[in-house]
Amino acid sequence: MIISLYQNNPRFGEVRQNIEDIIDNLKGINFDLLVLPELFATGYQFKDREEAISFADSAGEGETFEKIKKFAAEKDALIVYGFPELKGDKLFNSSAAVLPDGSYHIYQKTHLFFAEKEIFDPGQTGFFVFDYKAARIGMMICFDWRYPESARKLALLGAQIICHPSNLVLTTCPEAMITRALENRVFTITADRIGKEERTGKALKFIGRSRIVSPDGEVLAEMDDRQTGLIAADIDPYLADDKSITPNNSLLDDRRPEYY
Ligand code: ACM
Repeated sequence: MIISLYQNNPRFGEVRQNIEDIIDNLKGINFDLLVLPELFATGYQFKDREEAISFADSAGEGETFEKIKKFAAEKDALIVYGFPELKGDKLFNSSAAVLPDGSYHIYQKTHLFFAEKEIFDPGQTGFFVFDYKAARIGMMICFDWRYPESARKLALLGAQIICHPSNLVLTTCPEAMITRALENRVFTITADRIGKEERTGKALKFIGRSRIVSPDGEVLAEMDDRQTGLIAADIDPYLADDKSITPNNSLLDDRRPEYY
């Protein structure tokens, strides 16, 4: 199974161009799973909640969803991407996983980072796992990495591959994702962006360094802090089902939650 991510450098608010840049650059390239960054088409630093709402879509609606749905069908691939989701009077920092048949799953970011708390509502979906092409997939978004419970919950639910759309500003995440993969024996795909935004008087620099990590903690593919484009790895998702550490130790079965 070819799993991949695209590291981009979106221009704030230029939704159509930001989507088309990626689709154009992936002409003729095949993959089974593609992960795009958090808020990949809109940009990250909204001035306020009203501005974020003006860019938000309902789940399964809007130009971004329509374009990605068509792209997923053309590529016969699962595509995961981040977007601002409007649901009633709530606004979530969400990711959609769009299957080739146009069906989709929505995850709403559980742990909001810094000024996101002034813009978004805390997610209400919780962590969940779904099947795709004989693999079990879970999602978490950016700062969720800082809570080991996120990836652990997905592993306990049986995830083999964790898709992790991100807009990283904390430089410790790429190394931490080795630990998240290793401590759960799962594949992780952290799709980040590069570039800067300074729309609220507070400059944000995004660190790039997207990476795909194996259940052994091996970095299978990675980007630096300047590159944009696709990286991929050909993996067997079933490797993530082997939770044995030694002949006497099974990673999840040996947990002792009564002492935690
Ligand atoms: C982040 O959660 N976007 C840092």
